[in-house]
Amino acid sequence: MNKRDKYIVTSLISLTAVSAIVLNVYFTFFHRYKGKVVIDEWNESEEFNDNDVTYINKDPNKDFVILNLADVQLCDTENYFNASIVYDEMNYLVKLTKPDLITLTGDQTWSNENLVSLKRIIRWLDEYKIPWAPVFGNHDYGNDFNSAVASMEYCSDLYEAGKYSLYKRGPTNFETLGNYAVVIKENNKILKALYMVDSSYLDKINDDQISYFEWISEGLKQKNNDNYVDSMVFLHKPLPEYSLAYHHYREYKDNAIGDVHVHFSLSGSIQNGFFSKMKDKGMKDVICGHQHGNSFTLLHEGVRLTNAVKTSETMSYYDDGIINLNGASTFVLQGNEVNIKNHFVGSKDYHISDDLNVYNW
Ligand SMILES: [Fe+2]
Repeated sequence: MNKRDKYIVTSLISLTAVSAIVLNVYFTFFHRYKGKVVIDEWNESEEFNDNDVTYINKDPNKDFVILNLADVQLCDTENYFNASIVYDEMNYLVKLTKPDLITLTGDQTWSNENLVSLKRIIRWLDEYKIPWAPVFGNHDYGNDFNSAVASMEYCSDLYEAGKYSLYKRGPTNFETLGNYAVVIKENNKILKALYMVDSSYLDKINDDQISYFEWISEGLKQKNNDNYVDSMVFLHKPLPEYSLAYHHYREYKDNAIGDVHVHFSLSGSIQNGFFSKMKDKGMKDVICGHQHGNSFTLLHEGVRLTNAVKTSETMSYYDDGIINLNGASTFVLQGNEVNIKNHFVGSKDYHISDDLNVYNW
């Protein structure tokens, strides 16, 4: 190769490299994926029908296992190259618990750079060929409300395109998306309703969201011989009642189901009446994520409030000297009863190995 050819080849390689970097920076930091414009407004005068929820069936001959993954917090920039720690841990937990449904209580991604990470998580989840159902967490919205590269509308497009996804964006006239319900049937009878609630970047559940879930509860009641269907609520941020329940526990040492680990603040959604309205409509369990240093189930006014175990060591998890708060929670439906089990994994230098510590309540 003569000098001139070398110059041309070097120039072409340099140009290609620079273009790749520029495009990468542009798509990562400046281009926003805004998603489809969908208008599906709801108001409470509408009549409830079966299309308003998603039905799935429980095999009557076996327990129904819900595996909850909390706060996996992948980010396109911060942990792009070590995202496999989440993948490995998910594989382990799925193999261990053999779930019939995987729920994700938010913060699947972290910061504005969420596009590649979310696509990855969806691809991984679909590989299991098990239905999965996510809610948004505050970090899924980005560094500010709906500021991430993949907007909440685009995230909804991606979630809805998931082959095994049960996600629905729900009504589009709320401030947030991803408010929907999954109903588990056994022998053609309604067994349990799962309400997937968006607790928003802004720490609140709005009145219209509450009305929506009340409306679904009433609709399901009509289909259940005029009895409210027992329900489980999955959301990202703890309801204010979590704090009340914990302060009661600290004083009286009762109402705990299993061990209580509380190292982070219990502040979450602001008081909005969700709990008081839904507890009379069949709500039996509430499951949140968000606080990586907490793991507990406390009974409060007849409702079990669970702070699910954070999944994977991305960003941060908490080692309180007794246990590493890293793993997942399962909710096992035996008939209509729900048994909660926590699975804590690994040590600080966690890699999938025999030192996995499965800790059952
Ligand atoms: Fe969070």
